[in-house]
Formats: sequence, structure tokens, C-alpha cells
Amino acid sequence: MNFENILVDIQDTVAKITINRPKKLNALNKKTIQELHTAFKEIQSYTDVQAVILTGSGEKAFVAGADISEFANFSEEEGANLAKEGQEKLFDFVENLTKPVIAAVNGFALGGGLELAMACHFRIASENAKMGLPEVSLGVIPGYGGTQRLPQLIGKGKAMEMILTAGMISAEDAKEYGLVNHVTTLEDLLPLAEKLAIKIAKNSSVAISKAIEAVNANYKDGVDGYYVEIENFGNCFETEDFKEGTTAFLEKRKPDFPGE
Ligand code: COA
Repeated sequence: MNFENILVDIQDTVAKITINRPKKLNALNKKTIQELHTAFKEIQSYTDVQAVILTGSGEKAFVAGADISEFANFSEEEGANLAKEGQEKLFDFVENLTKPVIAAVNGFALGGGLELAMACHFRIASENAKMGLPEVSLGVIPGYGGTQRLPQLIGKGKAMEMILTAGMISAEDAKEYGLVNHVTTLEDLLPLAEKLAIKIAKNSSVAISKAIEAVNANYKDGVDGYYVEIENFGNCFETEDFKEGTTAFLEKRKPDFPGE
């Protein structure tokens, strides 16, 4: 896969996507959003890949937000379309991907950058990371799902404070809030992401996709998450992975999941 603004590196079962506009602190312009969509879509079809790591290039930023230079002159309609298209193409797409995506937050994750990290299935961060939704300081509100996912992850009160003050929090505070799961040195960030991804990849990919769907169901309007869990639990019993997982356990050996 060849792109202008992102790098894709696949090693065995793990794909790494690096947003690569370091001079613009990896800000998300239209082209980058399209490239990310294409890369995630393609990776979703690769049966060998079982986990994805998303990070930013350089030592300063994961993503410093949506590219402000692209929307500064937008009308109301263009603004709404920007949010809608971005949510569909990237943020909702990542959240609903059948393969787990780990955000390795290596610096500033602001605005659309934090929203992208929040659309991933979980996040880890380096100690230099800073996170925030500064949109109201620009006269706009978060438009890529930030007003919804931040309260889901850290609770309404803390989310309101972050959104209304437009302030940034440190990696340690983000861990305390439950926004990131682990904080490491910058040097250890990708090795930890890889370790977690490899651990995930040892499990049944079919069960993992069913688990992602069931967890996400809790956050979808008009969907009964418990019902989705029952359905997906039942579905697993028809899979080769389930047969292999249970047989391997009973035979006291490690499973070799076919991913079917
Ligand atoms: N959109 C477009 N360009 C951006 C950007 C964004 N969200 N964030 C950073 N950049 C660009 C800067 O314009 C600058 O480009 P230039 O060198 O061509 O002038 C380059 O990235 C480096 O950023 P700079 O501001 O010089 O770095 P800094 O270390 O002084 O400050 C930040 C870092 C993250 C505090 C600052 O860049 C910033 O506040 N960015 C915007 C964050 C934001 O509001 N995001 C939400 C958007 S809705």
C-alpha cells in the first residue's frame, strides 16, 4: 500500500499505521482521512493481520487535530458535511473495525487527534503525550465524535471540564481518568503496543470481532447490548475457532486458531 501521508507496515499478524505529516504535527487533512480509510479497509480484508497499531510520526505529535487550514472558511453546510463524512469514513469505521486497533499516543493528541485515539479500541501513551479537545477555543465544537466518546470513556463531569476549558491533560492524568490504559517512555511505547497486539493476535480472531461488536453495542442507540452478546456468544459455537480452542484446552496444548 502506497500513500502520501501515512505509512503502513505489516509484520506477521500485526499492522502498524503511522500518520506521517510531522511538519504539520500529523494534522488530519482530507487526504489523510481518505488514506486512513483506505488502509483500514484494506487491512480489514487481510486474514493474516489480527491487530492494528495506530501512531504518529516524529516525537512531538500523535495528531494535533483536524487540519485547521482546510476548514477555516467553511459554511454551516460544509462544516456539517466535514463532520459527517469524517465520522463515517474514519472514526466510526475504526470503532467498528472487526480487528482491534490500539492507539499508541506519542505526543499531542488534540481535537481530531484525540477523537481518533478515542475511536480506537484502547489507548496507550508515552509520558510526553498531551491530550485535549481545544475546539471551543477556535469557536467550534468537537465534530468527530468527541462530545460522545469522551464522556463514555471518562464520565460526563470530567469530559465537560476538558471540552469547556479546551485545556490539555498530561499522560498521567489521562491514565488516572481511564482515557489511556498504560503510560510508558517514548522509547517503550511501540514495543508495548506490539506486545499487546501480539498477545491479542494469539486469540481467536473470530471471537475478537464478535467481542468488539458486543462491547460497541452498548453505545449504539436502539440496540440491546445484552441481546447482541447472547447472539454473538451463540454464533461462536458454530466456528472452527471455538472447536479448536476448546479441543486444545482439553488436550492440554496451545490452540492454533484457523480464524474461521
Ligand atoms: N491544523 C493545521 N496545522 C497545524 C495543526 C492543525 N490542527 N496543528 C499544528 N499545525 C501546524 C502549525 O500550523 C505549524 O505549521 P507551520 O510550521 O507551517 O506554521 C506546524 O504544524 C507546527 O505547529 P506549531 O504550532 O508551530 O508547534 P508548537 O509546538 O508551537 O505548538 C500545538 C504545538 C499542538 C500546541 C499547536 O500546534 C496547536 O495548538 N495546534 C492546533 C491544535 C488544535 O487546536 N487542534 C484542534 C483542531 S480542531
